[in-house]
Amino acid sequence: MRLTKKIAILFSGNGSNLEALIKVLHNKRFIKSDKKFQQREGFLIGGIENEFLEVKASNTDSFRVEVVLALSNKSDAYGLKRAENLGVKTCILESKAYEKREDFDGALVEILQKEKIDLCVLAGFMRILTPIFTKQIKAINIHPSLLPLFKGAHGIKESFESKMKLGGVSVHFVNDELDGGEIIAQGVLIKNNESLEEYEQRVHSLEHFLYPLAVMKVLKGDF
Ligand code: GRF
Repeated sequence: MRLTKKIAILFSGNGSNLEALIKVLHNKRFIKSDKKFQQREGFLIGGIENEFLEVKASNTDSFRVEVVLALSNKSDAYGLKRAENLGVKTCILESKAYEKREDFDGALVEILQKEKIDLCVLAGFMRILTPIFTKQIKAINIHPSLLPLFKGAHGIKESFESKMKLGGVSVHFVNDELDGGEIIAQGVLIKNNESLEEYEQRVHSLEHFLYPLAVMKVLKGDF
């Protein structure tokens, strides 16, 4: 069976995760190999059991990933340029034009349902989502801390400033509770004597490595 899995990516700003996801996944075909996931790139990853291999279109067991839409709730988000440069359709749904959260979420759901997506991928989408969205759309999110620690908008800074010796990132399902849905995969970083900016850089590198793997895991129904 040569399946295509459609995803939409939602973001609000810089869009470095958006770009990483498009570069690794868009218009490519993969198979889940029997090979056990090998730790690499200096990261320790939990929750990804198998390797995913990119394969040619002739491989009949493969699934193709298509990023059908990159949607921002802010018209000045730099991620819009990144998506355009990579040939992905973009859309702006200005959240500030909506007084009620539910109305924005309703409009968002309508757009996503039209695209017939298999999965909605949040990548720096700075919105609290209501049940209007969470009850109708299967979505995942990436958060820059080892959840359930340091939920909310300051995950990187709070992890950095905490007495913990480890930091990391988490990919989780989206539900009504902020950063509270079931955890899909996590990556760990050993904290060292570095500046916040340096730590932040390493967090982003880890995110860019982990998120595409977690998306493939969910698309393959391994959850
Ligand atoms: C990332 O750190 C992500 O974990 C958080 O928002 C940030 C988005 O960064 N949810 P970018 O826009 O992908 O560069």
